[in-house]
Amino acid sequence: MPALVLLGAQWGDEGKGKATDLLGGSVDYVVRYQGGNNAGHTVVVGDQKYALHLLPSGILTPECTPVIGNGVVVDPSVLLSELSGLNERGVDTSKLLISGNAHIITPYHVTVDKVTERFLGKRKIGTTGRGIGPTYADKINRVGIRVQDLYDESILTQKVEAALDAKNQILTKLFNRRAIAVDQVVEELLGYAEKLQPYVADTVLVLNQALEENKVVLFEGGQGTLLDIDHGTYPFVTSSNPTAGGACTGAGVGPTKISRVIGILKAYTTRVGAGPFPTELFDEDGAALRRIGGERGVTTGRDRRCGWFDAVIARYATRVNGLTDFFLTKLDVLTGWEEIPVCVAYEIDGKRVEELPYSQSDFHHAKPVYEMLPGWSEDITRAKSFSDLPKNAQNYVKALEEMSGAPISAIGVGPGRDETIEINSFI
Ligand code: GDP
Ligand code: IMO
Ligand code: MG
Repeated sequence: MPALVLLGAQWGDEGKGKATDLLGGSVDYVVRYQGGNNAGHTVVVGDQKYALHLLPSGILTPECTPVIGNGVVVDPSVLLSELSGLNERGVDTSKLLISGNAHIITPYHVTVDKVTERFLGKRKIGTTGRGIGPTYADKINRVGIRVQDLYDESILTQKVEAALDAKNQILTKLFNRRAIAVDQVVEELLGYAEKLQPYVADTVLVLNQALEENKVVLFEGGQGTLLDIDHGTYPFVTSSNPTAGGACTGAGVGPTKISRVIGILKAYTTRVGAGPFPTELFDEDGAALRRIGGERGVTTGRDRRCGWFDAVIARYATRVNGLTDFFLTKLDVLTGWEEIPVCVAYEIDGKRVEELPYSQSDFHHAKPVYEMLPGWSEDITRAKSFSDLPKNAQNYVKALEEMSGAPISAIGVGPGRDETIEINSFI
């Protein structure tokens, strides 16, 4: 059985952690392929709730090997504290593998992220302030620090020098901050080397050998399609490729190995940070979605912006990711509305538009065209099969499926592992 990709179909926080954890029992490897600790993936197991930032959600399944791929950016201090937090709760993390080619988020990346946002003022992106953008920028500029550099002090020192040369000029002259000392950074990074050593591996080789042995590999995306640096609402995006192609580059596995691409899709829409969001609600309905859905960021604690389901975005996600399935989450949150608006198209400058416009000016002017679907009031959190759902909830799901362009193969009716209706099996 080849590889599966599981990714966010909207602006992140669709419920990827829960979906990954659910599949964890049937897969051998769970791999993060991009992003870093900007992600916040919530997994609820029984009465235990875990918030994972850098570790793949498969870490909670003992049979599963969690892997941090080369495309991820790793903040070693965050990683070590996440590991020790899980160890204290009795989770065995010894199987973790980290790519030696993954780039390291250093304290200067975090500083640059924060000062850049401050400098942008009203035009800020609303980043998570975790140093993600500056670390990927250094990677592309070829002045990044990789995990393997921790094991050669002389190379590490040269690389930190190269990275700080220009950065210190900018920090002192443009941002009016103090320069960062090379020695201090090198010393801090070397302090992590020994602790990380047992996990560092040639993950590309490990994953490809596993696939050759017919092992099941699940790629767990961070963020979401509309936050993708190439395919999202640029510049209001993250600095990596959460879309399906990112799994290939971010883990070193060829596209021919991937058989399923599962888009995690919330039954309504949320977004954290700045940027366009056509179906955003500023009224009581928006507040109710936030309250009932518990829409508060796992990483930054910011309130999430909330709005109705947007089928134009779902169709776009199907296209750019080649989705084979959707996992629809949080259907239970919509219980209680008499009628539920669903955005089926946009109106842009008086014209109806069915597909996501490539032009940012058009997207910023897009007004949602709504179709009203009848709601339901029955509690659905205990539904185990599609037929357990009230007729109107069934029709809501079917309508979304029709509009979104791929089959809905599972439905979330609550945060717990077993609060899921499985329609088609993924593996
Ligand atoms: P991720 O970043 O995509 O993993 O999503 P987050 O963990 O940031 O946000 C999703 C939130 O919704 C978490 O609090 C989950 O526990 C919760 N959740 C996931 N699926 C469902 C569902 O089907 N119903 C409800 N009510 N909550 C869900
Ligand atoms: P998960 O994996 C939602 C958003 C930030 C900001 C933009 C850029 O939990 O779905 P960054 O720090 O990445 O440079 O910020 O991206 N963002 C997320 N929004 N869920 C996430 O992750 C996010 N990770 C980043 O709010 O708008
Ligand atoms: Mg999240």
